[in-house]
Amino acid sequence: MGIMRKLDVDEVLARQDSGELKRRLRARDLVGFGVGIIIGTGIFTLAGVEAKTHAGPAVTLSFVIGAVVAGLAALCYAELASSVPTAGSAYTYAFATLGEVFAWIIGWDLLLEFALGAAVVSRGWSGYLANLIGLPQSWFGEDATVNIGAVLIIAVLTVIAVVGIRESARVTNLLVLVKVAVCVLILAVGVFFVKGANLSPFIPPAQPSAGTGSVLHQPVVQAALGLGQSVYGIGGVLSAAAIVFFAYTGFEALANLGEETHNPRKDLRVGILGALAVCALLYIGVSLVLTGMVPFTGIDESAPLAAAFDSVGMHWVGALISLGAVTGLTSVMMVELVTIGRIGFAMGRDGLLPKAIGTTHPRWGTPHLMTIGGAVVIAALAAFVPISELSDMVSIGALSAMVIVAVAVPVLRRRRPNLKRPFMVPFSPVLPVVAAIACFYLMLNLDVMTWLRFAAWLVVGLLIYFTYGRHHSRLAQR
Ligand code: ALA
Repeated sequence: MGIMRKLDVDEVLARQDSGELKRRLRARDLVGFGVGIIIGTGIFTLAGVEAKTHAGPAVTLSFVIGAVVAGLAALCYAELASSVPTAGSAYTYAFATLGEVFAWIIGWDLLLEFALGAAVVSRGWSGYLANLIGLPQSWFGEDATVNIGAVLIIAVLTVIAVVGIRESARVTNLLVLVKVAVCVLILAVGVFFVKGANLSPFIPPAQPSAGTGSVLHQPVVQAALGLGQSVYGIGGVLSAAAIVFFAYTGFEALANLGEETHNPRKDLRVGILGALAVCALLYIGVSLVLTGMVPFTGIDESAPLAAAFDSVGMHWVGALISLGAVTGLTSVMMVELVTIGRIGFAMGRDGLLPKAIGTTHPRWGTPHLMTIGGAVVIAALAAFVPISELSDMVSIGALSAMVIVAVAVPVLRRRRPNLKRPFMVPFSPVLPVVAAIACFYLMLNLDVMTWLRFAAWLVVGLLIYFTYGRHHSRLAQR
């Protein structure tokens, strides 16, 4: 049937020098893009929510677990991205190792991750901005019939993403400076308000999970075993780890910039591992400060960090945190739009999406059609649908791609032992297998509803593949 046909790695490598995408990025820009997409709602909101509802002060431990799993996956991404630099990242690695249908599924899944991510974040952005400068909630808030703020920010960022990768990098770097400065400020000031009593007991005793609501909102593995939800205790820490993993998602977007980086063989790995390391350190510090400042039962769920500083009388820090959140969320959307363009471009180039999508703008050298098409879908979603609760879809999308990438590492080593690999995951195949299992385990800790939505998305994807991609694929034309 041809659905398992594979791309030739040499062909992928030859294509990256086609010059369609322009090489304009250096390692520094990649770290900027990485931190730009990683730090967002995860730390500004989820850290507080999960401390209150699942983990207590041990949410810091959940962030450590998240960092270890993300770190393992990042090592796998770093090996593949530096040996096969391509705009398609995980999609192309799957195409070269596992076969076309897997590649399509992963590409489709990554489009979901980044499009939904941008839509969720744009609504959060709009709400934060409204609070910060007093805009009407009826246009900018979560209850707006048409969320004007979300549409406007997506439109502005799309223009930048289309005009050039250099321009996108400049804007991102600036936004990143502001948000990293705010995180450092939280640490530097917050540490003086930490009270040991708030951190003890570090892992609150597990509470009975009786009557924890609908099965749809239980972690899939616990629903299967009839265990209900875990509130506090080790079980709560693990559940929170799956949810705050959202905070780490995004570093994999860097792997899509291989055709636009001057020295991809070195810079991609510096970008991926460097950005993740910076963010992990900030997250662990910020979550420790937050739970040290406020008893976890008293954490504010809508703006946990700003409220913590307000509660100790440091209102000016609270105001700066809102500013940090607005700039932080802007850069997340910026990089997500850039990434969607690259993934769609790679899929169009291979014929799995219409060929026109796989071309770049004659003057700006960006995949403009996919960037604009993706933005229209995102803006339409964000304008009309209250989608804030869909952030778990971003995590399941990222984690499933990470499972495939981890598997692809040893498979590619077997298929192409002599490929030049500037960076190698140590102890392969053990570490890649551990990475795949860890990512899958976190997926099992996401709730039943998320799995059902994810399954529906994959079914739609398979229908499109069998009616369109399979026949139009470049490999089918041969
Ligand atoms: N990692 C990004 C965030 O936390 C998506 O918002």
